[in-house]
Amino acid sequence: MKIFSSILLVFFILCFACQDAEQKWQKNNTTKSKAEVESEVKEKPRKAEKVNEETVYFGTPAIDGVKDAKYDPGKALLVDKYILGTDDEQNLGQGASAKVWVLWDENALYVFAEVTDSTLSARSDLEYMQDSIEIFVDENNNKTPAYQEDDGQFRVSFKNKQSASATDVKGFKSSAKVTDKGYVVEAKIPFRTMKAKAGMVIGFDFQVNDDQKSGKRDSISKWNDLSNDSWQSTKGFGNLVLKP
Ligand code: BGC
Repeated sequence: MKIFSSILLVFFILCFACQDAEQKWQKNNTTKSKAEVESEVKEKPRKAEKVNEETVYFGTPAIDGVKDAKYDPGKALLVDKYILGTDDEQNLGQGASAKVWVLWDENALYVFAEVTDSTLSARSDLEYMQDSIEIFVDENNNKTPAYQEDDGQFRVSFKNKQSASATDVKGFKSSAKVTDKGYVVEAKIPFRTMKAKAGMVIGFDFQVNDDQKSGKRDSISKWNDLSNDSWQSTKGFGNLVLKP
């Protein structure tokens, strides 16, 4: 009898704990269950995924944080796929996202990003945990499992603080401005191993890091790569087709 009542007690304690976790989750995500969001953001093998491909047009804008009309013919890339790899997974499936326009010329890629972010934060000392965007470029589009000399990661925070993993970042320029909805970043990413020509296809991805003032990264959204490996592998990048 004593054993039976102890088992019953443990059972009730476990039930309360589960219910509490589920309630906390629903407070943050009112429309979907935790299981639904988790299965959506689960890292999937890239092979099974369709690779995003977008046409980008020739043009050389000024890097001033103002969206030049030259960007208009291109379709905006939507950076709104949330992935795992954050420190506070209570925020899974939601957080900052971006619309990104890209131009190119023989020497560089130009990126204009409009980020929607309700709370701006640079509390962490780690750059990737501050509100920031990351641009990933694979110049020869070889989609390699480790970075080569043509591959680069370029980060800009909402305060226009730059950081990068590429060894040669000469000519990396950026401008950032706070807006009503979050912030904008415009950047010039010089090509380091080639002169670009119309018809080329390059590997590209884009990431938005979001801290909602906890001092840790609360969400990561991406354009194509659903893994958090874009900083060390170009396998999951999407494609940009350079057009005149
Ligand atoms: C990743 C981090 C990683 C960092 C390295 C970011 O893109 O999201 O997890 O530690 O790059 O620079």
